[in-house]
Amino acid sequence: MQLSRYMGGALLAFGFLGLTGVGGWLWLGLRANELAAAPVQVPADSVAVSGDSLSLVEGERVAWLRGCHGCHGDSLQGKVFLDEPRVIRLVAPNVTTAITSYSDAELARLIRHGVTRTGRAAFAMPSAMFYHLSDADLGRMLAHLRSAPTQSLTHPATELRLMAKIGLVTNKVPRDANTMDHQAPRLGNRADTTQLARGEYLAMTSCTECHGVDLRGDATTPALAKALGYTLPQFTSLLLDGRARDGRDLGLMGTTARSRFVHFRRDEVDAIWAWLQAMPLGAATK
Ligand code: HEC
Ligand code: HEC
Repeated sequence: MQLSRYMGGALLAFGFLGLTGVGGWLWLGLRANELAAAPVQVPADSVAVSGDSLSLVEGERVAWLRGCHGCHGDSLQGKVFLDEPRVIRLVAPNVTTAITSYSDAELARLIRHGVTRTGRAAFAMPSAMFYHLSDADLGRMLAHLRSAPTQSLTHPATELRLMAKIGLVTNKVPRDANTMDHQAPRLGNRADTTQLARGEYLAMTSCTECHGVDLRGDATTPALAKALGYTLPQFTSLLLDGRARDGRDLGLMGTTARSRFVHFRRDEVDAIWAWLQAMPLGAATK
């Protein structure tokens, strides 16, 4: 899923280099680095960090549910997220040390808008999904991140390789900060507290990263309309144990459920299911 984003320019790459030689090679490197670091203008974000002990526990749950640990490691110690010869070595940094240079407002902007402290668009961070996090959930999560034990692990630097460079200059490496709507109404801040509104909030801040912001899926992930075939007990077992209703091994969905969605409470699973059933998802198949 991530990888295909960087492979797009492969053929183009070889044609391009054949045509332009060493000069083209140098230009490519410079231009790609320039684009990677290009500043993105987004409105400042800010959030009140709530550090009482209940908020800290809830903040940790919010972070697990949204996949921070999946990409950054169980203790947020960071890891090499993607390492493909000729494409990219992409490092998900050690969050516990990276955030010490971030103010709370900068961290809110990174998470909900995908813009790093230095003002560039972050790779891979699913900020179009995080955008909808409520101020309350984000505030608790920041409190948790600030209190998480510091990890001493260091990592090699991210390295853009040929295909990622070609991808950048041909505009084939989408980063959420460049493509998302930074002004959309935020689902998490709606006053509506019905079960359906709750279900929509939870789905749109937990599932869209892979199933797409329109829930229609992509080449590797099915449309969420597939959930319509699930009864509530089956859906509960899907989210909390990663089990498909037909017993198939669900791969990434299974591991994601067992590490992330296992942190959902039953009433939250009920709400997501109710919302999915009420959605006109039949139209969202492909
Ligand atoms: C899909 C994987 C993924 C998820 C989910 C994810 N991150 Fe990241 N994160 C990354 C990658 C990759 C980078 C490096 C991006 C870059 O250098 O452009 C990163 C960068 C960061 C940085 C460092 C930015 C810097 O200036 O170096 C922080 C802090 C961070 N993420 C926190 C979080 C938090 C908190 C969450 C959960 C709300 C989260 N991430 C979710 C992959 C992810
Ligand atoms: C990290 C990526 C990821 C996230 C996040 C994710 N899914 Fe999935 N999901 C997948 C993939 C990949 C499949 C396809 C699994 C297969 O068929 O091998 C899938 C399949 C499914 C299916 C179809 C199961 C079947 O019977 O074939 C349903 C329903 C589903 N996901 C619901 C959800 C819901 C609800 C959420 C949010 C709470 C969610 N997913 C979040 C990756 C993800």
